[in-house]
Amino acid sequence: MIAKIEKHRLPGVFTIKTGERSSLATRSLVPGASVYGEKLIKVEDGEFRLWMPRRSKLAASILKGLKEMPIQLGSRVLYLGAASGTTVSHVSDIVGPRGIIYAVEFSPRVARKLLQLSETRTNVFPIISDARHPTRYFPLVAGPIDVVYQDVAQTDQARILFENLSAFCSDGAWGMIAIKARSIDSTSDVGIIYKKEISTLDNYGLEIVEMVNLEPLEKDHMMVVVRVTG
Ligand SMILES: C[S@@+](CC[C@H](N)C(=O)[O-])C[C@H]1O[C@@H](n2cnc3c(N)ncnc32)[C@H](O)[C@@H]1O
Repeated sequence: MIAKIEKHRLPGVFTIKTGERSSLATRSLVPGASVYGEKLIKVEDGEFRLWMPRRSKLAASILKGLKEMPIQLGSRVLYLGAASGTTVSHVSDIVGPRGIIYAVEFSPRVARKLLQLSETRTNVFPIISDARHPTRYFPLVAGPIDVVYQDVAQTDQARILFENLSAFCSDGAWGMIAIKARSIDSTSDVGIIYKKEISTLDNYGLEIVEMVNLEPLEKDHMMVVVRVTG
């Protein structure tokens, strides 16, 4: 079946339609390589990789109507909670060869695939470290960061985001945080947990730009976009 490829309204993102099915995709920086079993669609001048919303909270946020996409061509991204690099690989496609992703993951076992990914994707710089302690990897990050993307299941997610924004960013930089309510509090109402985390971000002086509830693609998750203001 012939695939119809269209630009999504968000930069760097595409929609691929095959018959009745519609999927998100990114234009592959490394044609021929499937990172996590995603389908590849070859075109005359390159290749697209389907982007699975159930494997990536960033893709889920886009499908759920994310309005602002801070990660763009040329962006310098600090990615906290990189795991094996599923979402990192799509971010790598989006930022392109002039962008960079400092991908922080604290589990060496989980990061094995991330290290392999960085061998073919030269814009991925893996860092095995704990996102709760930005001073430990500060010397490895060259220059200011445009976007801190955070997807770590920790009880103090808002604080981790703030400390990394403070360490690496200046005014106008963006933060994206995938809040996992059940890692913060296993019993309270999720709405109350989100409110508390958002008010913590607000108390840090961050501008709350957008909130996207990821249900039903990701249970008990909310993506929050923030901006550093003076
Ligand atoms: C939900 S997974 C991330 C999935 C990944 N963002 C993706 O979409 O492909 C969360 C990851 O964060 C890592 N993690 C948790 N706490 C961390 C910390 N304090 N510092 C660095 N990584 C952490 C875990 O080891 C795990 O691999």
